[in-house]
Amino acid sequence: MIKKISHLGVAVRDLAEAREFYRSILGLESSDPILGGEGAIEVSMVQVGDAIVELLQPIGNEGVMAKFLEKRGEGIHHICYEVDDINAEVTSLKAKGIEIIGEPKPGAEGMSVFLHPRGTHGVLVELVEKEE
Ligand code: CO
Repeated sequence: MIKKISHLGVAVRDLAEAREFYRSILGLESSDPILGGEGAIEVSMVQVGDAIVELLQPIGNEGVMAKFLEKRGEGIHHICYEVDDINAEVTSLKAKGIEIIGEPKPGAEGMSVFLHPRGTHGVLVELVEKEE
């Protein structure tokens, strides 16, 4: 079961510049950058009340985030829904014919998995089961 929106992923070219925009223009602090995506991206979280905006900057010119920026430019990259049981969710979505990218993997917030935008009306969807 989907509980709520966990975060929005936003692709940026320059994480330091983007963080400065969020801080000085929007008045929102962001977390110190950490490595994500098996070292292919740098990530900083902007806490906005209950929700999070996840700023994503590719490292280098390879990898999915770099390709996304090349093709689509900066902007919303994915929407992440928090679920109560990720394995049950994946099983149920697969049964409904939804294309899952890989298997659930441990991430910053807990186990997470992506659904291909081909099957979700054009939106890359991430599901996360938060650790208790
Ligand atoms: Co995410």
